[in-house]
Amino acid sequence: MSAYTILVVDDEILTLNNMKKVLEKENYEVHLADSGEKALELHETYKPDLVLLDLMLPGISGIEVLKRIKEKERETIVVMMTAYEILEKAVEAMKLGAYDYLLKPFKINELKNTVRRALETLSLRIRIMDHLKTEKGRYYFGKIVASSKKMKEVIETAETVAASGKTTVLLQGESGTGKELLAKAIHYHSPRSEKPLIDINCAAIPDNLLESELFGYEAGAFTDAKKRKTGLLEKADEGTVFFDEIGDMSLNLQAKILRVLEEETFTRLGGSKSLKVNIRVIAATNIDLAKATKEGRFRSDLFYRLNVVPIRVPPLRERREDILPLCLSFIRDLNQDLKRSYKGISQDAARILQEYSWPGNARELKNIIERIMSLHVSDEIQKEHLPLEMRETIRSDPTEKIVSGDNFPSLKELENLYIQKVLMHTQNNKSRAAKILGIHLTSLHRKLKSRS
Ligand SMILES: Nc1ncnc2c1ncn2[C@@H]1O[C@H](COP(=O)(O)OP(=O)(O)OP(=O)(O)O)[C@@H](O)[C@H]1O
Ligand SMILES: [Mg+2]
Repeated sequence: MSAYTILVVDDEILTLNNMKKVLEKENYEVHLADSGEKALELHETYKPDLVLLDLMLPGISGIEVLKRIKEKERETIVVMMTAYEILEKAVEAMKLGAYDYLLKPFKINELKNTVRRALETLSLRIRIMDHLKTEKGRYYFGKIVASSKKMKEVIETAETVAASGKTTVLLQGESGTGKELLAKAIHYHSPRSEKPLIDINCAAIPDNLLESELFGYEAGAFTDAKKRKTGLLEKADEGTVFFDEIGDMSLNLQAKILRVLEEETFTRLGGSKSLKVNIRVIAATNIDLAKATKEGRFRSDLFYRLNVVPIRVPPLRERREDILPLCLSFIRDLNQDLKRSYKGISQDAARILQEYSWPGNARELKNIIERIMSLHVSDEIQKEHLPLEMRETIRSDPTEKIVSGDNFPSLKELENLYIQKVLMHTQNNKSRAAKILGIHLTSLHRKLKSRS
């Protein structure tokens, strides 16, 4: 039996029987209706993949049947059958969502080819929908670990803005904090989720190539342009464009992108026609764009245009409550991928993981867990599994056990040790350390000088 069901609707019994014969030979399951009423009834019962529908029916017209079928089951593919005299009706039907039409009288081969093509389109559509479903699952907000208050706030804002469908979002945060993950979740939870998400890494593509990739070009626009090429902006129509690492886009291209965002139109390279696009923009960067703007490396007008809903994704060291939940989530995923059965993390390993500064954020954490789980077969992550540098940074914690037994350091000593600890935590970033310590950067410098 065939995977596909076809409903044929025509008021001429002879036509119906002939078509049934041809289509059954091709292994389709075929049902016949000799009126519009009967067609709607059988459509309800058999949910056919394809309907071959005569335009001229007594009673409910072919157009009306088409409308009602599309209202009920948008995915059903309908091919109209029409006589030459009423061809304009077929055009109307196409506007209402018919896939194609067959001009009567048609040859057997024409029928077979049209049906085959229609069903190929259907199977492609199903594959795309399946793909979307799995992508959606992968980038579900619920899969983003957020135990800390800061990350919960990030998710809340992202969910709210996702629903709006049009608002521009600017994601800023250090490398590996989860910006891409958030961008995808926003798209797949927006009203645009079934339209394309076009991911453009501005840092990875050279400037001139990026321009032609984005805008596309007409044949002959430059030496190598043999054929017209559709640009990514055009492909993203009605969907989302994710400009990753937007801080790396050249000033020249920034100006062009700004125009697209403001006017929602663009022209292909070498073209003159202005094309309209409807896109939602999500941009991400790990550089401080406001600062880049002040320094003239980023256009301020584009910055303001992007900064509609800014979301700062905090580094992992500012939300340590997320570290262990992230580990557990990575362990769960990797158990499946690597066929392991880790249950968790030993206490002393957990302490080290929680105290480490994670300059590479969630990505670094994921990589370490993956390395451990692929190298060791065990039921938990143990201290010995962790990289030596990591264990050493933690072990050399200057304040550890300092106030114990009879060891009571002076306030000055304690202050020095504390400053040292904070500097370790900020990886020697003095202005950040001063902020944590609640003192001015110049006082920190003074204290450090007086120490040595
Ligand atoms: N909150 C989170 N929950 C689950 N996984 C996360 C989370 N944050 C990050 N990850 C994972 O960490 C890795 C890095 O995240 P992502 O690629 O989104 O970072 P990024 O901010 O885009 O980094 P970069 O600036 O380097 O491109 C990915 O594998 C991602 O799935
Ligand atoms: Mg990224």
